[in-house]
Amino acid sequence: MRKALIAGNWKMNKTLAEARELVAGIREQIVKINNIGDVDVLICPPFQLLMPMAKAIDGSCIMLGAQNAHHEPFGAFTGEVSVSMLKDAGCTHVIIGHSERRRLFGEDNALLAKKVRAVLHGDLTAIYCVGETLEEREANQTDRVIRAQVAAVIARDISSDRLVIAYEPVWAIGTGRTATTEQAQAVHAAIRSQLAEIYDLAISKKIRVLYGGSMKPDNAGQLLQQPDVDGGLIGGACLSASDFSAIISLAASVSK
Ligand code: 13P
Repeated sequence: MRKALIAGNWKMNKTLAEARELVAGIREQIVKINNIGDVDVLICPPFQLLMPMAKAIDGSCIMLGAQNAHHEPFGAFTGEVSVSMLKDAGCTHVIIGHSERRRLFGEDNALLAKKVRAVLHGDLTAIYCVGETLEEREANQTDRVIRAQVAAVIARDISSDRLVIAYEPVWAIGTGRTATTEQAQAVHAAIRSQLAEIYDLAISKKIRVLYGGSMKPDNAGQLLQQPDVDGGLIGGACLSASDFSAIISLAASVSK
């Protein structure tokens, strides 16, 4: 079956001193978790912290990811960072297409398709984010929007081995308002059936689909128990060692 992945998206938070304290706290708490081997743990700090955090996680089970990447390998792209640079810094994962990148930085599906390909081509794992806005959900457009976001970026010729999808309803991000277990499961199941159309049934069963959007220790257990919820992409709660570790612990204790 699919191994759970609990990923922390730090967004634009933490100085070096704060980051060291956070990672030390996570390390201290997760060694106490039974079955920690059943969960993949990932932190995605901002760029300036990648190299020191690669050191800070050394010798632990924690993996390192970035929050964005440029799709070109190198060149005159002021302010950007390439996939090979991220790999060089110790990253194994890159978040692509977060709703904040789509909304605040104008990243569209066509650009995100290039970015996902660049990440996979660079042998890193892409965590491709999809999600509907509140207006879209209220207008019953959720299925259509998610389907289009997946279809525009995920294609049969894209390697499924290092592909993760994250469903993050925009209205649930940073709002304290989380999707119900039924809402999350319904979208996750729809994404998986679309993956079965793109690849095949067996491959669709191997690709992890994470939930993100106000996931906290008090709601993570129920969400993670849903058959098609394979982990979480955590924002606010990953900035606290105890909250993030508590979610990891819940993921380790879920049996499906
Ligand atoms: P919150 O957990 O703060 O809602 O953020 C979710 C998110 O955007 C993770 O990428």
